[in-house]
Amino acid sequence: MKYNIIIIGDVMNDNKLPIHVGIIMDGNGRWAQKRGFSRSVGHKMGAKNLKKLLKHIYKRNIKIVSIYAFSTENFKRDKNEVEYLMDLSIKFFTNELKTFMKENIKVLFSGRKDNLRVDVINAMNELEENTKNNNNGILNICFNYGGRLEIIDAIKKIASKINNNDITFDDITEDLVSENMYQTLPPLDFVIRTSGELRTSNFMIWESSYAEYYFPNTLFPDFDTKEFDKAIEEFQKRNRRFGGITNEDKSV
Ligand code: FPP
Repeated sequence: MKYNIIIIGDVMNDNKLPIHVGIIMDGNGRWAQKRGFSRSVGHKMGAKNLKKLLKHIYKRNIKIVSIYAFSTENFKRDKNEVEYLMDLSIKFFTNELKTFMKENIKVLFSGRKDNLRVDVINAMNELEENTKNNNNGILNICFNYGGRLEIIDAIKKIASKINNNDITFDDITEDLVSENMYQTLPPLDFVIRTSGELRTSNFMIWESSYAEYYFPNTLFPDFDTKEFDKAIEEFQKRNRRFGGITNEDKSV
């Protein structure tokens, strides 16, 4: 499968670093409530933490990061919280442009844009457009995103190609499905969900089929660079077999 990305540098790293890391940034609300603040304060602190974390991650030569910033299900939240998250997102997309340019990071969005506010869509489009030629790393922001919806959207694209006689039924393979997802990025190697919840909540379910998972109890605003390094150490200890066996196992 050909991935539609160009990245400078060595992505086949010898230090067993993941190429593609996913982060489910959970626990902002609880972080704030524990301190007697409104949930919005937790989201603000989450965004602040995200900035520091991303800088650190790319510095560590991890090239692709996918973050779960807003799920399609998050629209079920209180209207004020949703509006706050939309405003905070616009600020993040606008204010961080200079950082992404400086660090040479290309920003992509995964998810449906159709029922978002126009000002949010404009900020997303602008960030994508302005960073499209950057090539030191990728930030894939899952926004108004649902994993099952992504698969449905891929099925629709494939069905329409069959309908137009561009491909036939027999052309449907795992690679073809991957090529019709929102992004053609390499699969996720490592998924971190903060806050102790042991769920994946519809996050990149196709792309994470062989990912290693890590569930620290730390709430996202407190998940700092040290916690991230600890997570990577844990990843490096994992024995990834992808359904097969390794040389170490053969002697057992
Ligand atoms: C989940 O925590 C977090 C979210 C729904 C929002 C994540 C957003 C940020 C970290 C801000 C950065 C935003 C962008 C767009 C990059 P929660 O509210 O479900 O926490 P809880 O489980 O403690 O209630």
